[in-house]
Amino acid sequence: MSVYFTSQSTLHVGIIMDGNGRWALARGLPRAAGHRAGVETVGRIVEAAPPAGIGILTLFAFSSDNWRRPAAEVEALMRLLAIYMAKETPRCVEQGVRLEVIGRRDRLATGLCAAISRVEAATAHGSRLRLRIAVDYSARDAILAAARGASELSLDSLGTALGPPVDLLIRTGGERRLSDFLLWECAYAELVFTRTMWPDFGAQDLAAAVREFRGRERRFGAVPEAPVRLREAWLD
Ligand code: FPP
Repeated sequence: MSVYFTSQSTLHVGIIMDGNGRWALARGLPRAAGHRAGVETVGRIVEAAPPAGIGILTLFAFSSDNWRRPAAEVEALMRLLAIYMAKETPRCVEQGVRLEVIGRRDRLATGLCAAISRVEAATAHGSRLRLRIAVDYSARDAILAAARGASELSLDSLGTALGPPVDLLIRTGGERRLSDFLLWECAYAELVFTRTMWPDFGAQDLAAAVREFRGRERRFGAVPEAPVRLREAWLD
């Protein structure tokens, strides 16, 4: 299989970074200040991911439904994303991070698309962490696009088109839903929900979530002694 799979020791972790707005409002700040603080958290979590045993990190930065937010907030988020893509290249290269963006590109500003292409090309050889940032992303759209582009419909072909299965899905901010994020890839993900708002989420919270994941028994629908063999079969 050509899909980039994680091994048992290196995890694919997906994070729904929720709570920026509430974090800001609780401090009497505009929501955009929460998003700015959220970008700081992204930096800390990217740095903390490899030592926590994470090989692939997928972050939900902007959902296709987020276009419904007030124009000023959408603009602020797009500006933050463009700044991040333009400025993060040296840090990614230094940290061995390969950055890629998933989601639709046709509704993004030309400048943001160009910045994304540049950072993707410049970091393509990073091998310590594969960092995937979801922008204008909808899991349902991604599944439809994968099905439309498949020469034959099978679990393997759609799985290959969509991306690696998620081991651990974390959502900050207290809500307990998937909000159209990696629906196919999370088929057997362990879910961890925390009340901590994204700007307050830190390396210790990430390590705690990974510890909770490691303490769970993953059966993939089978009986207790089978899951390791099942997972190895995926890695063949
Ligand atoms: C959800 O919080 C968060 C978002 C919609 C945006 C997440 C974006 C960032 C963390 C910054 C940009 C990311 C990168 C990778 C540079 P919310 O606004 O829905 O919070 P609320 O539920 O408290 O209102």
